[in-house]
Amino acid sequence: MKNGMENMENRDIRLLAVESSCDETAAAVVLNGREVLSNVIASQIDLHKLYGGVVPEIASRKHIENINQVIEQALKEAELTVHDVDGICVTYGPGLVGALLVGVGTAKAISYAADKPLIGVHHIEGHISANYICHKDLEPPFLCLVVSGGHSHLVIVRDYGTYEIIGRTRDDAAGEAFDKVARSIGLGYPGGPKIDDLSVQGDPEAIKFPRASVEGAPYDFSFSGVKSAVLNYINGCKMKGIEYSQADIAASFQEAVTDVLVDHTMLAAENYGIHKVAMAGGVACNKGLRRKMEEQCTRRKYQLYYPEPVFCTDNAAMIGAAGYYDFINGKRDGWDLNAVPGLKLGSD
Ligand code: KG4
Ligand code: ZN
Repeated sequence: MKNGMENMENRDIRLLAVESSCDETAAAVVLNGREVLSNVIASQIDLHKLYGGVVPEIASRKHIENINQVIEQALKEAELTVHDVDGICVTYGPGLVGALLVGVGTAKAISYAADKPLIGVHHIEGHISANYICHKDLEPPFLCLVVSGGHSHLVIVRDYGTYEIIGRTRDDAAGEAFDKVARSIGLGYPGGPKIDDLSVQGDPEAIKFPRASVEGAPYDFSFSGVKSAVLNYINGCKMKGIEYSQADIAASFQEAVTDVLVDHTMLAAENYGIHKVAMAGGVACNKGLRRKMEEQCTRRKYQLYYPEPVFCTDNAAMIGAAGYYDFINGKRDGWDLNAVPGLKLGSD
């Protein structure tokens, strides 16, 4: 396949992208897979906060209310109409089925009405491809740590659209562990950014939480143990009538999780001889993780890539970046494109 800055027809390709897999309704226009012409995100976080997490039925309803305006806004900011774009990309999995269906249905309708090609995009491919937006020079092969609310994967990106999953979580995803621990220490939803901020005030060495590894699977993750250890620590303090520091728990928990993420990534980079390392997904915003990964990559002279925070959490620009490589590779979907909540990636 051609590299990132070219395409088969050697002309500019503008793609409208739609993302609605969880609690953000998003649309974007992306030029040649790397340049963001617009990136509109309507977040539902304030609504779901009331319930301590994403309520799928509410998410679907909100997507329906927002999606048309979000798409119109994305086209307006790019100063284009739907007739000017070369195709419509949409996330079709993994994610919440009702939420995905809103995006898929809308994208199909636009594609049909405007007679534009339709390209279904894998959400995790999108997260990985966010790195192409922020690092114009990045090309496969590279190793990517994908850490979001639903996934914790170590992926070798062999080529555009070619993925080999070498590590996965056995239980909770990293972001899920952040969210659950935040809830147990009373920080509310979404917990990741709150733990990240509070950690600055705490001592990461105050409490020794476990760093789990999975026997025989050196790149796999398991976060349920550290989550239980936090709950046990809190319950123990309560039973003994000892006051505990939220900040110390946050910092020590973050330290335990990020130690494992970085150690496994470094081990994989070393064993596979891949010295370009990327991060993707909401947890890639984490300041502790970024710092630790930077230290370790610098020490080993590895090149490190991660997207700006707005492209780490859910957005449609990343879907337009991933969709571009599908588009120039000739991938097209038909009217039978459906939402696939458990969609697998590459060798998964
Ligand atoms: O990638 P994302 O927006 O959605 C999914 O595809 O899941 O990731 C959301 C997850 C949430 O669990 C959130 O708590 C976590 O990313 N997150 C963070 C931070 N910002 C977002 N976790 C740790 N530190 C952060 N700064
Ligand atoms: Zn995501």
